[in-house]
Amino acid sequence: MSSLKWWENAVIYQIYPRSFQDSNSDGIGDLNGITSRLDYIANLGVDAIWISPFFMSPQYDFGYDVSNYCDVNPEYGSLSDFDRLIEETHNLNLRLLIDIVPAHCSFLHPWFEESRKSKDNPKSNWFHWVDPKPDGCPPNNWLSFFGGPAWSWEPRRQQYYLHNFLPQQPNLNYANHEVQDALNKVARFWFDRGVDGFRLDAVHTINGDCEPYKDNLPNPNFNLGNLPQDRQPFFRQLHDIAQLNQPVIQEFTKTFRKIANKYDGDRFLMGEVDGDNGNATNISKIFSEPGRLHATYNFDLLKWTGLNVSELKNAISNAREAFNGTGRLCFAFSNHDVPRSATRQLSPLELTSEKQDNLQLLLLQLQTSLIGSSCVYQGEELGLPDVSDIQFDKMKDPWGLNFYPEFRGRDTCRTPMVWEKSKPMGGFTAANESWLPIATSHLEKAGLDMARCENSVYQKFSNFLKWRKKQPAMVTANIMSHVSGGPKEIIFDRISETQILRCKFDFELVKSTFSEVTYGAS
Ligand code: GLC
Ligand code: CA
Repeated sequence: MSSLKWWENAVIYQIYPRSFQDSNSDGIGDLNGITSRLDYIANLGVDAIWISPFFMSPQYDFGYDVSNYCDVNPEYGSLSDFDRLIEETHNLNLRLLIDIVPAHCSFLHPWFEESRKSKDNPKSNWFHWVDPKPDGCPPNNWLSFFGGPAWSWEPRRQQYYLHNFLPQQPNLNYANHEVQDALNKVARFWFDRGVDGFRLDAVHTINGDCEPYKDNLPNPNFNLGNLPQDRQPFFRQLHDIAQLNQPVIQEFTKTFRKIANKYDGDRFLMGEVDGDNGNATNISKIFSEPGRLHATYNFDLLKWTGLNVSELKNAISNAREAFNGTGRLCFAFSNHDVPRSATRQLSPLELTSEKQDNLQLLLLQLQTSLIGSSCVYQGEELGLPDVSDIQFDKMKDPWGLNFYPEFRGRDTCRTPMVWEKSKPMGGFTAANESWLPIATSHLEKAGLDMARCENSVYQKFSNFLKWRKKQPAMVTANIMSHVSGGPKEIIFDRISETQILRCKFDFELVKSTFSEVTYGAS
């Protein structure tokens, strides 16, 4: 019945491949593991899956440090395993998105290994190399997101190189045409293999020409509150346009769009973008102008400490104002970078565990009732709690390790999925140990057990998604009314030519209602 393109209202299930399902008993999830669980995903009623990086990588940032963009890391399988995965995904009428990391690669990528050797090798300008100041310091005060300066020293060149994240993730120089060509080839390689689109990682951190290397100014809005971000120097700066959100990035978005347009089947480009001080919506608008990305991945609902009802309302109203009538944004409450939403959102409510499940369902229903597409992170369909008790010696996330114990990073949402309570290791692996520990708190909500259980979040959400697909107001138009409701309510209408659906989310009773209404009737 839909007159929209598939991605304009898609519900996308995000898989963190290292933690989904292990198929060869090494304690690490892999592509064949994902293939073996596709039924579970299809039965949930989502439209697409997005798989976080599984490419060649030394795993300093767990795959977001790529050392070969066009091959599978042996830990995760092989290209032929990927071909089988994509075929079976399509057989189940699901689309498949993968991650591309265009801003930086691994320091072990042959591109960087060559570039760092000398000032006159063929790849010498593929990265951002700068001379030290006379006092030996880097050219400016830029900091990296994961802590410490954004510049690291290369003795062979007697120069610094730029990295917005770890020193093991050097930033590519997008001003270089050969770099542009190399990234374009990556897109074509995966489109040719049949992927339906890309989630583009950290697009706002792509850098072209950064000269004259101005210092970032202090962020006047920074205050040492209790957000984990407050503990990190990166957020004390206002980021100069040369470090984040450089205009040249739009050359990248336009080029990728042209490539995507050449393929059949509505291939989709969704970019992760952000700005300082909660400016994500404005930045998102710029990135999704005509001829650029199809949609952006909106950060507003991902706030680390969760949102209360009025903040949630504001975020939704802002997004509505910017995007109503379009499908150019993608909402997410959770992903592999933030604590799980069941634990994070609306904590002041102090809910019983039954109510906690209801709240999780409410959030899932809310996000999939909004305009645009929506990403559901693995385990959110089960209402899994965040895992706060990982011992220091078991922690893996470099970001958490850098800021421990003030801030523990992202392992808490990355522990392996569990499938059956009765199986050793919850059925994730046949090994005795997994790369991150299995959370015992998850065993009561194991995936396959919950899929069989009538009152589970999984079942209720699955029923909701099946119902949603039949509502013209949800799937034939991307229009919503103003957001209204009392302090503990969020109410809006979804509107199509044939249906007006009033969507009401009551956070007091932790309950949603959907009813058809007619305007003009009293
Ligand atoms: C994105 C990813 C995150 C990664 C970072 C650097 O924000 O979601 O996991 O660490 O980019 O690539
Ligand atoms: Ca494995």
